[in-house]
Amino acid sequence: MHLRPAVAADLPFLTAMLLEACNWDGTPWYDEAKARADHHAWRYLEGWQRETDYGAIAEIDGSPAGASWARLLTKDRPGYGYIADDVPELTLGVSPGFRRRGVARALLTELIERTPYARISLSVDPDNPARTLYESLGFTKVGVAGTSDTMVREV
Ligand SMILES: CC(C)(COP(=O)(O)OP(=O)(O)OC[C@H]1O[C@@H](n2cnc3c(N)ncnc32)[C@H](O)[C@@H]1OP(=O)(O)O)[C@@H](O)C(=O)NCCC(=O)NCCS
Repeated sequence: MHLRPAVAADLPFLTAMLLEACNWDGTPWYDEAKARADHHAWRYLEGWQRETDYGAIAEIDGSPAGASWARLLTKDRPGYGYIADDVPELTLGVSPGFRRRGVARALLTELIERTPYARISLSVDPDNPARTLYESLGFTKVGVAGTSDTMVREV
């Protein structure tokens, strides 16, 4: 596995990974058109790559296998895991054919190491297996938004 920084040209793959996150339980709630039209979902990639956006791409045998990125959002246009304007919120997705090989763990470890902020947040459904991964990497629950948990890690 090779990890590299996410760049502006990665938008199509990041979009695919955003859809994996939106459809995390296998139900095809979102396709790209619906995600782009959903002002809340598209908030995570709109205008990518902003100056303060950062992320990592995992490649396996030259193909993108997964991605995690983080973005600052604001109180008037928050993400689902919004904490504060100076706390970026991360998104994570691994392509179905590359799961259970440690890709997500490697991506998150890299993202946390590269975070230039004191905290990083996320939103996760309590039934998502990703929650176990987040806990194992030091994220703790700080609240609930809708049906999802908001988790934070000190960096
Ligand atoms: C959740 C997801 C990112 C995990 O990616 P992955 O590369 O398969 O994860 P890893 O191989 O690094 O696994 C790390 C840990 O996550 C947990 N985990 C991941 N998938 C799991 C599953 N299907 N069942 C149970 N635990 C799982 C385990 O604790 C695992 O640790 P272990 O291998 O030591 O048991 C991937 O399944 C995915 O993209 N899902 C859809 C998008 C999504 O849910 N994103 C997160 C939204 S908050």
